Amino acid sequence: MKRYNRIFILTGAGISAESGLATFRSANGLWNNHKVEDVASIEGFERNPALVHDFYNNLKAEVQNVSPNAAHLAITTLQEKYPAEINVITQNVDTLHEKAGNKNVYHIHGQINQAVCLNCAQVLETWGDVDTETVCPHCQVMGMMKPNIVFFGENLLCMDTVERLLRQCDLFVSIGTSGVVYPAAGFVQSAKYYGADTIEFTLEPTANNYLFDKHIYGKAGETFPQFVEELLAAL
Ligand code: APR
Repeated sequence: MKRYNRIFILTGAGISAESGLATFRSANGLWNNHKVEDVASIEGFERNPALVHDFYNNLKAEVQNVSPNAAHLAITTLQEKYPAEINVITQNVDTLHEKAGNKNVYHIHGQINQAVCLNCAQVLETWGDVDTETVCPHCQVMGMMKPNIVFFGENLLCMDTVERLLRQCDLFVSIGTSGVVYPAAGFVQSAKYYGADTIEFTLEPTANNYLFDKHIYGKAGETFPQFVEELLAAL
């Protein structure tokens, strides 16, 4: 097992599955029960903001009732015990990485406990419901709050940082993502181009699995803590 200095950890819905949160594309996934274009696009939000607010308010309530699992906690162990710069770039809008004590967490698809005012661009942190009646605490305008979730077609957040970290990392770890949604699904290609070792933790081969040097199939709550132990044992 090599020594690494800069580890880029990309996570997707699969890392939160064992905490009880639905993924998007599994049998009873979120996108099987809701139309992406209705709840995850700007057009859908403009067409029916109440439906979109309702979807994310429900998801927000769910997220508050679940806890991090062994995979999230193993990232904290790695960050505390392994002498390297370790960054967590997550597609997830839940806050389980933070709840587990992970540091350097970047939410490229936004966060469920945030809303952004389309009038003044102020971001509001709240675990309460946000809807078409919500008044922006900054500009006092009502009905212009949108969940701070990156909808399809919108730019990802934190991309300057992501691009720098992809250039610098020597180990790229992907945990629980199907590798079908770009630009995140292309991160492994950039990391590989810049010379990083690449490894994915998922249940089954993913759409971009040919880009990974190594694949560890199984539940991340079991496989990733095992990997962390191997990295620490090799110090
Ligand atoms: N352990 C490891 N991997 C798991 C587990 C688990 N316990 N459970 C599921 N997985 C894997 C699945 O095999 C799949 O590859 O997690 C992945 C989940 O894929 P998706 O449901 O597509 O979720 P994700 O890849 O995060 O979706 C990316 O799509 O809809 C958008 O914005 C949304 O951020 C999301 C993006």
